Amino acid sequence: MAGRIPPEFISELLARVDLAQVIGQHIQLKKAGREHKACCPFHQEKTPSFTVTTKGFYHCFGCGANGSAIGFLMEYTRCSFVDAVEDLARQVGMTVPRDARAQARQESQEPLYECMQQANRYYQEMLRKSDPAKEYARSRGLSGQICKEYQIGYAPAGYENVEKRLAGKFDRALLIKAGLLTKNDKRRVYDRFRNRLMFPIRDTRGRTVGFGGRVLEDQDTPKYINSPETPLFHKGRVLYGLYELQQRRGNLDQLVVTEGYMDVVSLAEAGVSNVVATLGTATTEDHLRQMGRFCRKFVFCFDGDDAGRAAGWRALEHILPVLRDGDEVRFAHLPEKEDPDSYIRNHGREVWQEFLSQSVLLEDYFFSQLTRDLDLEKLTDRSKLVQKARPLLSSMADSAFRDLMMNQLGELTDLTRNQLRISSKTTERQLAAQQGPKPSVGRPTRIRKMIRMLLEHPELAVQAQSSLLQSLDALKKPGMELFAEMVDLAQGVADVNTGGMIEAIRASRGEEDAQHLTRLLDWRPAGLDGVSAKGRLQNFEAGLRILQKERLVAWRSRLTKQQLGDDQTPGKPLSERQKKELQKVNEQLKELG
Ligand code: CTP
Ligand code: MN
Repeated sequence: MAGRIPPEFISELLARVDLAQVIGQHIQLKKAGREHKACCPFHQEKTPSFTVTTKGFYHCFGCGANGSAIGFLMEYTRCSFVDAVEDLARQVGMTVPRDARAQARQESQEPLYECMQQANRYYQEMLRKSDPAKEYARSRGLSGQICKEYQIGYAPAGYENVEKRLAGKFDRALLIKAGLLTKNDKRRVYDRFRNRLMFPIRDTRGRTVGFGGRVLEDQDTPKYINSPETPLFHKGRVLYGLYELQQRRGNLDQLVVTEGYMDVVSLAEAGVSNVVATLGTATTEDHLRQMGRFCRKFVFCFDGDDAGRAAGWRALEHILPVLRDGDEVRFAHLPEKEDPDSYIRNHGREVWQEFLSQSVLLEDYFFSQLTRDLDLEKLTDRSKLVQKARPLLSSMADSAFRDLMMNQLGELTDLTRNQLRISSKTTERQLAAQQGPKPSVGRPTRIRKMIRMLLEHPELAVQAQSSLLQSLDALKKPGMELFAEMVDLAQGVADVNTGGMIEAIRASRGEEDAQHLTRLLDWRPAGLDGVSAKGRLQNFEAGLRILQKERLVAWRSRLTKQQLGDDQTPGKPLSERQKKELQKVNEQLKELG
């Protein structure tokens, strides 16, 4: 995945991004000299050991968390690598290039996207031409404007409409793959969506990846048909309405998650535009990850029926393991027989806001549901409560929030933390924090030291005498390739910083080298701290001089070995070219002193 974006782009991006500003959007930072400090968002602590350096890199001395702006966003908002890069690029006005391979892959999906797009346009056109469909949309309170914004359409009755319209431009096999056509037992192929109001589902880049189609007559079944799983569409991963919400941007203080298409569009119709829907599936970690890009306050809204109540508890079970300190999750259950769509239409926007403001916090919902049929005066019921709560609390990551939940359970049952015996899902990070320093960086070889210096001061590769930097990769030695690549990067990308260097190496050489660099940061060899910029350059150049000597000596000994031969091979005179090489090598060695 990481290889899709060119490493140089990544380091260029991180050179432009202001890390303190990016992190400051999510947690409160305090200025400390040129750096910034905060209590670490990745482990529990009372005194700040989380430091944002001026080098595009953050570091926590408590738990060892560290990384660049990309790493921070991935960890904190739970987004993917590509999403983090895209987000940051948007913030600084850059466009993410893709390498040829990724482009080819994307192009191979291109026809799928294209036929979905054309189907989308076709359905919209059909809605404009169908009076019954328009009448139905109107009866559900949808204006032309909202239909346009959500690109709502209509799939006409009949088995061959889409087929006829698109078959000339796309293979049937492709239309089946896209889920627009379907095949029955007798191998007959026909339109999947017939006589339905169509809701296109768009990804965060606005491309149509699937459809939901609703019958116009309530007695028809099934009420909804959705696109099947296709290379573009994965029901558990999409949130309906997220693209449209993203288009409106603006500052979101809260994201409302509902169950259905109609909920999203009805609320939008009423001017409430912070709403998305899971398409009748349980909330997944993927959903939370996507929403985390917008804000950290979520209200999950459920219909006032049995299914809605069950869905609420199921959502809670899915959410607990991915909760973080700083998330605020609320639950709201609509009155009997209502869903958000009917509620906003019956009562209007103000009552809706009022309803949301009465939503219950996850922790309250948790305990009120668990104690619903219990009498906590009775010891047996208290033990039942512990039994029910224990696996749920165990599923949570260690956090201040989890501790508070346990305290609450302790209060309700009169048991101490020890007596509750709740195992903890200790994260690797917390283990690391408990175990103290991380594995050492290995032997402090010269090349390690050079890598370390360059990592913190990429400008050295620009300032150093260029002859000292030539042909470095010709020296075969552990770490040399990595060092040479870092030199190229530091010379090729203006203002590259530490974070950018590490992310670019991660993208080009992989996780292991990136980890190695990260570990090196903890190491402060002599010649790094308390040295003037000039002294540092001198140290760096002295190191380069030794490496260059090693390279030249190795070259010379290859040539002389050829000349003299050894036990197995007789000597062989040097060619004219090789003689010139030897002469040059000797001259250069003399220059280096
Ligand atoms: N759903 C589905 N298939 C069904 C029923 C529901 O995929 N047969 C999904 C749809 O995404 C739907 C959501 O579950 O939007 C919620 O279902 P429901 O509350 O029944 O639908 P509403 O969105 O409320 O639709 P309507 O108001 O038109 O009945
Ligand atoms: Mn409904």
